[in-house]
Amino acid sequence: MRQLFATCLLTLHAGMLLAQDAQGKPGAGIYATHCVACHQPDGQGAPGVAPPLAGNVGRHAGNPEGRNYLARVPLVGMVGTITVDGVRYLGNNMPSFSALSDADIASVVGYVLRDFNGVADLSWLTPDFVAGVRQSGGTPNETHKQRGRLPVATGG
Ligand code: HEC
Repeated sequence: MRQLFATCLLTLHAGMLLAQDAQGKPGAGIYATHCVACHQPDGQGAPGVAPPLAGNVGRHAGNPEGRNYLARVPLVGMVGTITVDGVRYLGNNMPSFSALSDADIASVVGYVLRDFNGVADLSWLTPDFVAGVRQSGGTPNETHKQRGRLPVATGG
């Protein structure tokens, strides 16, 4: 009985630690639910499946066009071949997550930029900013074209 009680306490404790982790890093829970299957736990991506986000997408956080793109990708999705670090990702689409709220999109993009790319200034990444990008609409194909026009080179 005593042992069972101890096991229960341990399990409870582990559960609380997990919850704390998710709370301590805003957006981590959303990433784990919606993005991790393709982009992998540390955002390292998987050749043939999805590009890395770590050490990749942070380069777009410093200018208005790039910021717009970073919110548009999860809102609208993207189709078409891209190249990251010399690896081509073709035939795989980035799905749209338009069902997520503006706050959730801001939160998960913030997590990707902060935790995987070391971006410090995320003051621009508010739910209102995401709402503006959502309002301007667009198609997955247009997102791909937008990527090709970004001021900071993407590698193709
Ligand atoms: C079903 C797999 C899949 C899921 C789930 C997924 N992605 Fe993607 N993601 C992709 C693919 C594939 C691409 C590249 C699309 C292309 O080549 O047009 C991509 C591209 C991206 C890019 C652009 C990368 C670049 O180099 O420009 C970002 C940012 C991104 N995803 C963020 C996310 C976020 C945030 C989530 C979770 C809300 C997510 N993805 C969920 C497959 C996925």
